[in-house]
This record gives sequence, C-alpha cells and structure tokens, in this order.
Amino acid sequence: MTQNTKLLSPKELSEAANIIKSGGIVGFPTETVYGLGGNALDPQAVRSIFAAKGRPADNPLIVHLSDFSEAEMYACDIPETAYRLADTFCPGPFTIVLKKKNIIPEVTSGGLDTVGIRVPANNITRKFISLCGTPIAAPSANLSGSPSPTCARHVLDDMDGRIPAVIDGGDCPVGVESTVVCLEENTVKILRPGFVSREDIAAAGFEVTCAAGVTEKLPDGERALSPGMKYKHYAPKADVTILEGSTEKFVGYLNSHLSDNCCAMIFGDMPKELPCPVIDCGRTSEEQARRLFSALREADEIGVDKAYASCPDRQGVGLAVYNRLLRAAAFKVVRL
Ligand code: TXA
Ligand code: MG
Repeated sequence: MTQNTKLLSPKELSEAANIIKSGGIVGFPTETVYGLGGNALDPQAVRSIFAAKGRPADNPLIVHLSDFSEAEMYACDIPETAYRLADTFCPGPFTIVLKKKNIIPEVTSGGLDTVGIRVPANNITRKFISLCGTPIAAPSANLSGSPSPTCARHVLDDMDGRIPAVIDGGDCPVGVESTVVCLEENTVKILRPGFVSREDIAAAGFEVTCAAGVTEKLPDGERALSPGMKYKHYAPKADVTILEGSTEKFVGYLNSHLSDNCCAMIFGDMPKELPCPVIDCGRTSEEQARRLFSALREADEIGVDKAYASCPDRQGVGLAVYNRLLRAAAFKVVRL
C-alpha cells in the first residue's frame, strides 16, 4: 500500500514547521503520546485537526508552548498557585487549565472560556514549537475514540492520507497523556489523571482532589469538567472487559467464558496457564503506562473480538492506566 503521509526525521523540523506556518497540520512526538498539531490561533488550521480526527467540536484542544512564561500571552488571571505548579511540573506531562484570553479562538477551546496549557518535556517537541513561532493546538494524533498513538507507525495507521506529515521521534517514553488539572482556590483538581500522579502533586506540597468521573462513569446528564473524559475512548475494535479479583478467579472466569476469538490482557503478575492468547501489559505501573495503548492496538492486530483485562493497580501513574482502560472497556468491570 502506498503511504501518502510523509514521515519526517527530527532533522527535518523546519519542513514540519513550514507546514504549520502555511496553515497545515502535522503529527509530532511528545514524551506522552504523539500529537496532531496546528496553529492554535488559526481557526481554519484547528478545524482541520477536528476534521482529520473526527473529533466532537465540544472537546477542547490543549495549547502547547515551548516555555511556560509565554502562558501570559494566552491566559489571564493566572493564580500564583499555577506558577508554583509550573515551576514544579513544567516542562513535563502536565496541563494546567486557565482562564483564556480572546486571542485563543472558540474552536480551539471547544467553546469554553478556559485554555489548557502544556509545555512538553521532549526537546524535539519544544524545538519544533519554537520553530513554528506560534502556540500549537494538539490533541493526541489518533482517530477520535481510538487508542492514542505512542509511535509514528500508530499515527500512520490512523492518519495516513489524512495529514501531510508526521515527525518520527521514536517510541514515547511515558505512554499515557498528560495530567490535566484546574485550580479551585488553591486546591489542584485533577480532571484527567496522567503521568504526574496525585501523590506527586501532594508530595510537592499542594492540596489536591480528583474530579468526579475519573474512576467511574459520570451519571447521565452530568457535565464533565474535562469534556474528553465523558466519551467511550481509547478503544480497540474488540470488546474489552475488566475483571477485578484474584489471579485464580481471573483464570476461572476465562475458562468459563472462553470463545474462539478472545484474548487476555495481563496487568501485573502473569498467571501460569491461560487458555487463550495473552498480551503482556507489564508489571510496574510505569511499564503499563508505556505499553497500554500499543497493547490495545495489538488486540486488533491479533483480530480478537473479546479482550479480558486483569485490573491494573491504581496507585501513582496506575490511576491513569486504570482511567484509560476503563474507557477502552466502555466502563464494563466484572467484580469477581
Ligand atoms: O499528553 C497530552 O496531553 C497529549 C499530547 C499530544 O500533548 N494531548 C492530549 O490531547 O492528550 P487530547 O486532546 O487527546 O486530550 C486533551 C484532554 C481532553 O480530555 C480535553 O477534554 C481536556 O484535555 N481539555 C483540554 N482543554 C481543556 C479545558 N480548557 N478544560 C478542561 N479540559 C480540557
Ligand atoms: Mg486524545
């Protein structure tokens, strides 16, 4: 099959930046997942990001900067706590939601009066943003609803022919998206858990809470503070079910629900004998974060129609792994 989206090396950043400068969109690596970027101040460029992904218009895009000091150009009334958070966690897998200035178009903010600001840790990414000379609006570079891409091939799998180019920066070292927070007075509220954990934020001396909907489905009709959290998301074609309970009960459930076309996704200790193909999703939470999205894509490559996942540990970055897996499973959890 011919490939229509150009793969650029990190040596060709100026070619990628020229696409952005002329109003186009480009796939690019970050430490978390690959993004699909365009000029955040250009409504037309931002609309083409939504179109390429098939993303609902009410889901705002994160605005990526090369340095947090630029935040004042795009956000107003920035509280002192936000600066302290940025000192601690930026650059890094961390997004701070602030009140937006009018220069950020409505289409970028999904109609909200706020803007999420993130400064990626990856040097290639920050250099790319600097070369563009404009803030970069970017969601993850997957088709809306699919697992996020953690390598350039994943981007091509979803976006080939839909975007002009992707910068190949290799595998993403973090593997799950940034932690999205907003501030309520001096309390840091986690809207989407990510690599920077609740424990990390507390250890740095901040008051921290988690928004409703992070670990459970919001009641119908309730508004999600982070619009992306309300959707079934990150899902492979296979139907995913999380099985919560001991390894023995997990194996017992699999044996009694076995079908020709199922697989097991194992987070943590591997059971000795499993009656179906197995995807090893890693031991530690960090490893699971790195592998999760490629494991979900692997389920499609094997071609299974049912995947039974063991339940990841929810400490630290494990909360982000659980949060994504729960959405991939459309909130189906069986407590054994
Ligand atoms: O690590 C990441 O954050 C990656 C890389 C590319 O930077 N980006 C990413 O973007 O994951 P996306 O669009 O796939 O997810 C952004 C999430 C969504 O859940 C969205 O609703 C939320 O952040 N979000 C963005 N702006 C927001 C705002 N102003 N208020 C509340 N939530 C916001
Ligand atoms: Mg996404």
